Amino acid sequence: MLKIAVAGTGYVGLVAGVCFAEVGHQVICVDIDENKVNLMKSGVSPIYEADLEQLMQKNYAAGRIDYTTDYESAYKDADAIFIGVGTPEQPDGSANLSYIATVARQIAETIEKDCLVVVKSTVPVGTNDKVEQFIHDFLVHDVRVEVASNPEFLAQGSAVRDTLHADRIVIGTESKWAEELLRDIYKPFMLPIVSVNRRSAEMIKYASNDFLALKISYMNDIANLCELVGADIQDVAKGMSFDDRIGSKFLNAGIGYGGSCFPKDTKALEYIAREHGYELRTVKAAIDVNHDQKTLLYKKASKRLITFSGLKVAVLGLTFKPGTDDLREAASLENIPLLLDHGAEIYAYDPVGAGHFARRFPEGPNSHGSIQYVSHPEEALADANVCFIFTEWGEVKAIAPEAYKNLMRTPLVYDGRNIYAVEDMRAAGVEYHSVGRESAVRGDLKEHKDELQANRY
Ligand code: UDX
Repeated sequence: MLKIAVAGTGYVGLVAGVCFAEVGHQVICVDIDENKVNLMKSGVSPIYEADLEQLMQKNYAAGRIDYTTDYESAYKDADAIFIGVGTPEQPDGSANLSYIATVARQIAETIEKDCLVVVKSTVPVGTNDKVEQFIHDFLVHDVRVEVASNPEFLAQGSAVRDTLHADRIVIGTESKWAEELLRDIYKPFMLPIVSVNRRSAEMIKYASNDFLALKISYMNDIANLCELVGADIQDVAKGMSFDDRIGSKFLNAGIGYGGSCFPKDTKALEYIAREHGYELRTVKAAIDVNHDQKTLLYKKASKRLITFSGLKVAVLGLTFKPGTDDLREAASLENIPLLLDHGAEIYAYDPVGAGHFARRFPEGPNSHGSIQYVSHPEEALADANVCFIFTEWGEVKAIAPEAYKNLMRTPLVYDGRNIYAVEDMRAAGVEYHSVGRESAVRGDLKEHKDELQANRY
């Protein structure tokens, strides 16, 4: 078994470290945050992620994983050092590589034996060449050091499963030595390995993420057209999905993609292309569609209601998707300020993400409106004038259509995740608007029809 150090204990680093330990490697995770390190040592995961905490505790108890701020002792005799620090988006769309540079320099100054440095963070094509040069420039001891690319494809909420049971492991190396070492590290995973050169590996990550983002934006574009021509996006997606070449995943229309990867990686690749004098038109289109899609429901509701001022607005779901407490690029972050600026009195529910959201939008008056956080969806819905669904949490899906009718002052629902059958909402007497499907409007509702009937006779 090999001695592996991991730099950075965010999603990428921590999950990788824990999974390496789980398959038997000796792992040491490095982070600059001492509180975080102590937390992890005590078996607490700093991120909300299924199975992670349990595997952290199990492997810590077995002595296969430890956490430290002391990078020197962690790096000096490691066989491989995985870099999993962030590459946040800069205002111009490019990736900020300063965290990677810091770690690269620390590695150069501390390693005392031959070592493979493996970049897991998503970096612009060609970065790993520069990281290798940078390490060589600052190298203190006379050792062999090479840089390899090993992008990860984990999704938040299923990160451990995605890592242990990945569709493929992509490794990008420039020498047999590096390739063999990475093959050894991944051998216990028993997964298909795609071995390519470094630049291709870097590109595979962007090309894969951007393709998925494109798929979602394409479905959203088609969904918007479906509404105009009277087609149903879910039926359309179902019909498409039988074609193996299209596949059945990532065809869900809604209020756009969020999270830490798709928005950042689409903009980064578009930036990389621009830097090379090339316009990446398809990815640019995906970004544009996603931008408009996020506030689609707000725009629809603004047309339907004279004002939000003084209205009780129920918001169900704040995170960018279920199964995570992450708010990055969530549609809620675009819509809630708009609602507040227009005087809404918001009652927001999210089973996991409300605490984080409250740090950005504290309870109480805000702009021309106000925001409160509630622990049960029913509290948000009680007496509400309108409801927005931003995240398809199980707890939200479990709300019966009748509950909207019974609890709300006016049962008017804007669903950004198409979680209900239009027919069910119509039958329950709820005015219901979603994405790429017909709406259940007041004229359809049974109660309204009964009213008309009563007036006729
Ligand atoms: C994604 C990729 O799936 C993963 O491979 C990569 O490594 C990182 O980026 P993640 O951002 O965690 O993972 O979440 P994912 O489940 O892919 O969803 C991203 C966004 O797309 C969410 O906002 C989700 O709601 C949205 N989405 C997803 C859709 O709108 N429609 C779909 O059909 C699928």
